[in-house]
Amino acid sequence: FLVEKGNHRHFMAKEMHEQPEVVSHTLAHYLDLAAETVLLEADLPFDFTGLERISIAACGTAYYAGLIAKYWFEQIARLPVEIDVASEFRYREAPLPKNGLAIVISQSGETADTLASLRYARQEGQKVMAVINVPTSTIARESDAVMPTLAGPEIGVASTKAFTCQLATLAAVAVAAGRARGVLTPERERELVRALIEVPRLMNEALRLGPQIEVLARSFAKSQDVLYLGRATSYPLALEGALKLKEISYIHAEGYAAGELKHGPIALIDEKMPVVVIAPHDQVFDKTMSNMQEVAARGGRIVLLTDARGAAEAGIETEATLVLPEMHPFVTPLVYAIPIQLIAYHTAVQMGTDVDQPRNLAKSVTVE
Ligand code: G6P
Repeated sequence: FLVEKGNHRHFMAKEMHEQPEVVSHTLAHYLDLAAETVLLEADLPFDFTGLERISIAACGTAYYAGLIAKYWFEQIARLPVEIDVASEFRYREAPLPKNGLAIVISQSGETADTLASLRYARQEGQKVMAVINVPTSTIARESDAVMPTLAGPEIGVASTKAFTCQLATLAAVAVAAGRARGVLTPERERELVRALIEVPRLMNEALRLGPQIEVLARSFAKSQDVLYLGRATSYPLALEGALKLKEISYIHAEGYAAGELKHGPIALIDEKMPVVVIAPHDQVFDKTMSNMQEVAARGGRIVLLTDARGAAEAGIETEATLVLPEMHPFVTPLVYAIPIQLIAYHTAVQMGTDVDQPRNLAKSVTVE
C-alpha cells in the first residue's frame, strides 16, 4: 500500500493530526455510542469475573500504554495488574496465577520480545489478549482474543496515533472489566463512556497548541536535558514524553514520578534544564504542585501542562503554561499525549533531525 504525507511535512505530523479521527474509530468499535456503554464483553474467550490478575508485557511506547492501563484496571475494575517490559518478562520466570489474563500490546504485532512474552504466558496457562494495530500479525494470530486498534498504518518510527488508539482500546477494556466484575454501577459506566466519547473533540482542541509549542521548541532545542514529571496516569505519560523527545530530537530526557523528585532528580535542577510538569486538575493536582514548587524554589525552568483551573491555582511563575481543555480525569492521558508529542516533534524539527526515521531506531524490532 502507499501512504502519503498529504500536506504535512512529516508522517509523524500527519499521524499526530489523524488522532481525533482514528481514536474516534477505535472508540466506536468498542462503545455503544447511543447507549453510552461498552460493547465488548460478550465476544471474549474468558470471564473477567473469575480473573485473579492481569500480566501486561510490551515494549517502548506500547509498554507505557500498558502502564497507564494498569492504573485503569486497578481503579475501575479492582483487578491487580503486574506489568513489565517484554524483554524482562520473557526471562524472569514469573509464576502466573491459574485464572490469569496476559495482555500484550504492540503496534506491529511482530516485536520479538513481546511475542516471546505471549508464548511464555500461554505456556503458563494464561489466556492472552493482544492489543494490536496489524491484525494479520504473528502476535494477533497466536492470541486468544485480539483487540484491534484502528489507527491505520503508522509510518513514523516514533509511535503517536497507535499509542492513543492503544489507550482508547485499553480504557474500553477496563470499563468492560469493571462492569463485568460488578465494580461499576450503570451510572458510573455511562460517566466513563461519556468521558471517552469526548476525547476526539478534546484532542482537536489540544492540537491547537501547535503554534505555542513551536515557539517553545526553540528553547528546548538548546537544552541538553529535559525532565518530565507527573503523578498517577500522568506519570507513565511523563515517561512517554521523555522517550519521544529522546527518540527524535536526540536530547537526553528523563521521565519521573513527581513524588520521586526529591529522591534524585532534584539534584539536576538548574536554570538550564526545562522541567515539563504534566498536571491536569485531578485528584493528585495539589501533590504535583508541591513538587513543582520544589523545582521553582531551585530556579528551575517550568513548562506546565494543565487546564484553566490548574493554571489559575498553580500560583507559580512558569516559563510556559500550556492550557488544555477541562476533561474527566479518566481520559487525561489520551489528550495530554498530544502536547507531549508536539513538544518532541517541534523540537526535533528545530534540531533538523530525521523525524520519521531517527538514527539507530527501527519501526518494528523483530530481533532480540
Ligand atoms: C520500536 C518503535 C517504538 C515502539 C516499539 C514497540 O522501538 O520504535 O515506537 O513503541 O518498537 O513496537 P510495537 O510494534 O511492539 O508496538
